[in-house]
Amino acid sequence: MSRPLQALIDLSALEHNLSVVRRYTPRSRVMAVIKADAYGHGLLRAAEALARADGFAMLELDAAVRLREAGYRQTILLLEGFFDMDELAWIEQYHLSVVIHNHEQLAMLSAARVRGRLNVFLKLNTGMNRLGFPLEQFPAALETLRANPAVDQITLMSHLAHADEPRGDASVAVQLQRFLAAAEGRHLPRSLANSAAILRYPETHADWVRPGIMLYGASPLPGTPAAELDLFPAMTVTTRIIAMQTLNPGDGVGYGLAFRPGRHMRVGIVAGGYADGYPRHAPTGTPVLVNGKRTQVVGRVSMDMLHVDLSDMEDAGIGSPVTLWGKGMPVDEVAQAAGTVAYELLCALAPRMQKVT
Ligand SMILES: Cc1ncc(COP(=O)(O)O)c(C=O)c1O
Repeated sequence: MSRPLQALIDLSALEHNLSVVRRYTPRSRVMAVIKADAYGHGLLRAAEALARADGFAMLELDAAVRLREAGYRQTILLLEGFFDMDELAWIEQYHLSVVIHNHEQLAMLSAARVRGRLNVFLKLNTGMNRLGFPLEQFPAALETLRANPAVDQITLMSHLAHADEPRGDASVAVQLQRFLAAAEGRHLPRSLANSAAILRYPETHADWVRPGIMLYGASPLPGTPAAELDLFPAMTVTTRIIAMQTLNPGDGVGYGLAFRPGRHMRVGIVAGGYADGYPRHAPTGTPVLVNGKRTQVVGRVSMDMLHVDLSDMEDAGIGSPVTLWGKGMPVDEVAQAAGTVAYELLCALAPRMQKVT
């Protein structure tokens, strides 16, 4: 028997979540964000389920090439553009679209001998201060692109720093207002919204929306469960109990004996640890399902194992099924208990984790 840990990827959940995006954004094209191996779900597997998207966005050139070679004909956008001139030949050959976010890229594009026509997403810094041209430099950048015969369609884009904050926060309004002011009169397609903005700020939807996390069934809105947004979890990590321990008062369990219940306690030892992508910093109390019922992780997560409290679960023992996150155990709850976000848990699955559909 092989180690029982696996991540089950639910393709119908991905498809369903794309339909939720469509429901919110009937007038926009949808660019499914599938960077980081589709947030840990597997690039080609996720692309197949999301094949009805109008485009795909990622930042790994090799992944973009693989996607094109797999036969996808939609827009494939490289979210960080290119890093050196050699990549432009690949970008041209595979008809990839690129973000241009700085002067170095503009200069490389002007100096390169691109014979085809490239679609460019020109990125503006409207306040997040991560990537993008400062607003005062944007008109010159746009003129440079327009003067470049290698450039075909230009789309204006920006990214929102605060879309997951409650409505009323000025930041989205301020970024949107700056973006609209820059874009005014340019008659170019626009793209701004990530998942949180898709759900919360319809005024940001524009021509292209760029959902990531909501496609995978996690909530982009802190405090709002994914189920309330009609999102289905696309990844369920399951495993089993592989050993049982009974703690007596005074006993502890795991490294450092960091958890000492001070009473009798049945503890299940679960196959799955931080070398699989379960967060080591998940504290005692992090929720987990055993036999479909909620209980908690106890003690320190180790490389290959973690421990769960089975004191109220007479029927649980070696072989009992465990869900670390996914169906029945929202990844957002596990992330919150571990002091992180679902994005990190999904993306951090280790290569040794078996993924099945
Ligand atoms: C530029 C850009 N657009 C869209 C997204 C998708 O964001 P989310 O997963 O929050 O929907 C990301 C993700 O980080 C991004 O960097």
